[in-house]
Amino acid sequence: MKAVSIDKITPAENVALTEIPVPEVRPGWVLVKVKAFGMNHSEQILRLSEIEADYISKPIVPGIECVGEVADASDTNFTVGQKVTALMGGMGRSFNGSYAEYALLPAHHVFAIESELPWERLAAVPETYFTAWGSLFECLQLKPADTLLIRGATCALGYAAIQIAKALGCKVIATTHKESKLPLLADADEAILDDGQLAGNVNATKALELVGAKTVRDTLRCMVKGGIVCHTGLLGGVYTLDSFDPIKEIPNEVYLTGFFSNYPTQQKVDEIFSFLNEHKLQPVYGEFFDFEHIRDACTALDGGKVNGKIVVKI
Ligand SMILES: NC(=O)c1ccc[n+]([C@@H]2O[C@H](COP(=O)([O-])OP(=O)(O)OC[C@H]3O[C@@H](n4cnc5c(N)ncnc54)[C@H](OP(=O)(O)O)[C@@H]3O)[C@@H](O)[C@H]2O)c1
Repeated sequence: MKAVSIDKITPAENVALTEIPVPEVRPGWVLVKVKAFGMNHSEQILRLSEIEADYISKPIVPGIECVGEVADASDTNFTVGQKVTALMGGMGRSFNGSYAEYALLPAHHVFAIESELPWERLAAVPETYFTAWGSLFECLQLKPADTLLIRGATCALGYAAIQIAKALGCKVIATTHKESKLPLLADADEAILDDGQLAGNVNATKALELVGAKTVRDTLRCMVKGGIVCHTGLLGGVYTLDSFDPIKEIPNEVYLTGFFSNYPTQQKVDEIFSFLNEHKLQPVYGEFFDFEHIRDACTALDGGKVNGKIVVKI
């Protein structure tokens, strides 16, 4: 089968399709014929640096998510031809991922999907919508009456979160650090140019923090009493809160939580597709590439110029 397989630091220009054997099925694992996959910042990090880490199995086929059809169900309850998605749980890190025509995946990280959306639309859903869903509903307990601040909204996750929150009926305030990108946030009720200091100008009941540690202290001060901030993204490139003093820096009656997408469940996948169907939402994406052009897709990912999810169709 055709796949991308890497064992050392691999800039986008060195990404190439190679021939490797179709994986052999084993108990508890499902062979999936990959139809399409979304791309993620973490795959760029894998190619450009993390590949050298001891905990990465090498050589590795990158790709932390996919949609496709069951090609061999092994000893599981899946059936051949069933439409499925898989994400996270070590995919593309501890075992081979989705940049391939077939992926052998642990059954507990493969989920049935019922949807008539075309593959490339479906592929925009798994990681991005699961993360948006978990952040908004599990962590932020989002309700229609909420005013939601989305900080760093010009990313795949931000566009999905705007779509979901607007469908729910919330007021959405979305920010970008680039004036030229304000028009991309037209679906929000307010689009704000973020200079790093929003406190005093924004009052929200819930906040989805996608810039991360760089701005979360300020985001906490944008909350009304009872407000919740969910720290989900790292776009600002600052990963930890140095010298964080929770007593002084989390305002009284404001709550800070975080979301990690490593634990998807069938129930959550079902909830997401029900919500999309119920609200007649088309999953949002930035650009499609054919698998033959995986190098261009990686170049686009590394360049950060695509507005929204990059999807590769096999
Ligand atoms: N917690 C989890 O489990 C989880 C799961 C998935 C993703 N994430 C994180 O969520 C974030 C969004 O993921 P994604 O896949 O949606 O990203 P993405 O679509 O790849 O977004 C990348 C884009 O974000 C934009 N961006 C917006 N605000 C930015 C800022 N303040 N600084 C730098 N760039 C900014 C950049 O464009 P401009 O600079 O041109 O605006 C860049 O092109 C990432 O940090 C990702 O690691 C977390």
